[in-house]
Amino acid sequence: MTITEMQSKIRELKEKTDTVVLAHSYQAREIIEAADIKGDSFQLSVNARDLKHRNLVLCGVKFMAETAKILSRDKRVFLANPQTGCPMAELLSPEALIELKNAEPDRAVVAYINTTAELKKLCDVCVTSSAAVQIVRNMKEEKILFIPDCNLGDYIKKQVPEKDIKLIEGGCPVHDAVTADDVKTAQAKYPGAPVLVHPECKPEVLELADYVGSTTGIMEYAKNSDKHEFIIGTEISIAEHLQYDCPGKNFYPLSGKILCPDMKLTTLPDLLKTLESIEKDDGGACEIIMSDEEMEQAGRCIENMIELSARQGNFGEREILQSS
Ligand code: 13P
Ligand code: SF4
Repeated sequence: MTITEMQSKIRELKEKTDTVVLAHSYQAREIIEAADIKGDSFQLSVNARDLKHRNLVLCGVKFMAETAKILSRDKRVFLANPQTGCPMAELLSPEALIELKNAEPDRAVVAYINTTAELKKLCDVCVTSSAAVQIVRNMKEEKILFIPDCNLGDYIKKQVPEKDIKLIEGGCPVHDAVTADDVKTAQAKYPGAPVLVHPECKPEVLELADYVGSTTGIMEYAKNSDKHEFIIGTEISIAEHLQYDCPGKNFYPLSGKILCPDMKLTTLPDLLKTLESIEKDDGGACEIIMSDEEMEQAGRCIENMIELSARQGNFGEREILQSS
């Protein structure tokens, strides 16, 4: 089957099975084209909440499908490829977090959304990169333990100096691989092109950047800027998506190292197979199963995130792609 034939079969099965497909922006072009909703972690979480469909299929990594399930308890939620995890989300065990909490019981625990549902159960508030600063500012607590990304945590600390924020070792191995030298090399190669980076990168990389923001923040900045050339410091697929969206501009990946192997595992045939299994109800698709108690416990910090970010009117925009 060609890509176009697969995409048209996917569209047919989505309709037949009353399924909506959510894709993180780091997914490949052909998957983004076949999805109904695409966006960064914040947009996917918020938009998963009020969908009317019977089934959701998530193209991304496991914690995103868990988040979608927690926010859409009455729906069946499937992960298009069961092998996709996020190494950062699985870094800290619940036992290790309990120890950290016991050592400093007066700190509120703020978790990056890139954490397992098991960890979320133990946290007070969740954040995504796009809303982290506003959420931490809006919290009433002064003393915070931020897990697990120390790069994002350091960025929040600098933006919200009035709070006492404790960090732990940990982060995204993909974004953390970029160095200040990589930035200087790219700047020398493309003089005048602004450097746009994700806050999962190291502090010394952020210091050299012209803009720091989430995946969607970077895309919006580049689309709305009068400039014509940009150095993109986040997962390599973003430079490619931008190039399709803005053919009159040029986008250069900051480094070939920013390639997330987990985000690249999901293929269009995976999505098609998942929908075929949903149609046959043969148990072949990877369904996210959680008890009501688990969803209730892990859901509290996600609901708190949405509540605290809504105070600033910070909801992500739903972007529905027209299937061609
Ligand atoms: P955002 O989607 O919040 O930009 O996060 C990037 C990321 O690394 C997701 O795993
Ligand atoms: Fe996890 Fe980093 Fe990959 Fe995002 S880019 S899924 S944070 S490893």
